[in-house]
Amino acid sequence: MKIIHLSDPHIYTDKIHSIDPVDRFKKALDHIIINHSDADLFAITGDITDLGDKESYQLFIEIIKEKKLPQKLKPQLIIGNHDNREEFKINFPSVETDNNGFVQYFIDREDKRFIFIDTNLINTHAGHYCEDRQEWFTKILNETSKNKNIYVFMHHNPLALVKDESDGIGLKQKEEFKKIIFSNKEKIKHIFFGHQHITSSGSYGGITFSSPRSTWSPLIPNFSNEYRLGTANTDTNYNVAIIRSDALVIHTEDFLKTEVNWFK
Ligand SMILES: [Fe+2]
Ligand SMILES: [Fe+2]
Repeated sequence: MKIIHLSDPHIYTDKIHSIDPVDRFKKALDHIIINHSDADLFAITGDITDLGDKESYQLFIEIIKEKKLPQKLKPQLIIGNHDNREEFKINFPSVETDNNGFVQYFIDREDKRFIFIDTNLINTHAGHYCEDRQEWFTKILNETSKNKNIYVFMHHNPLALVKDESDGIGLKQKEEFKKIIFSNKEKIKHIFFGHQHITSSGSYGGITFSSPRSTWSPLIPNFSNEYRLGTANTDTNYNVAIIRSDALVIHTEDFLKTEVNWFK
């Protein structure tokens, strides 16, 4: 199985910090169509738009329509801190929500369950996972049969990627979240997230995780003790996960580099 994981396109009707998010998102989609039309799932892990406004959501919908992705690659969406849940729901009425109206749902493919969760809280860039959402997630995890492998998609990083004190905008309910996923270690095979706009990968209590950079603006990892963000004109990317019965491999696609010299 092949999964495309793209994050943080930050669609907006104009350039943001001198970078055109629409142009880059379109280039990423073109790259996916050329190289990964055979993929089985395409997930976009939030910050779909920069301001969560109607115009940007409609522009996103237009771009997706224009690109004519294969049916299997209709993007699975979740929201990030830059999105607006109510506006999102108006523009994407077919995306499922839980009983409390959070953009959380799951889909089953083969022996796999893909769970998409909502870590947005209005007026803050930090991630939040309230008790109602925790309850829904716990219920879905408990209901999932032991024969199914679970893959979680979320916007915010569930753990500090360097130091707790510098993780100013990561998930706030880290302990609560940790408790839930650690008690389902056997079932959860990987966590896909975005938000920090940096390429990361590792293992959390034995559960592997990965994040791509934003397709709009890539950032630089922060190894200081303070919360800070930085750019260095690095490449944008999206990730490709290859899942086999005995392995999970994450590739990073630097989609702006399109000239390939294949060795003869
Ligand atoms: Fe973002
Ligand atoms: Fe974000």
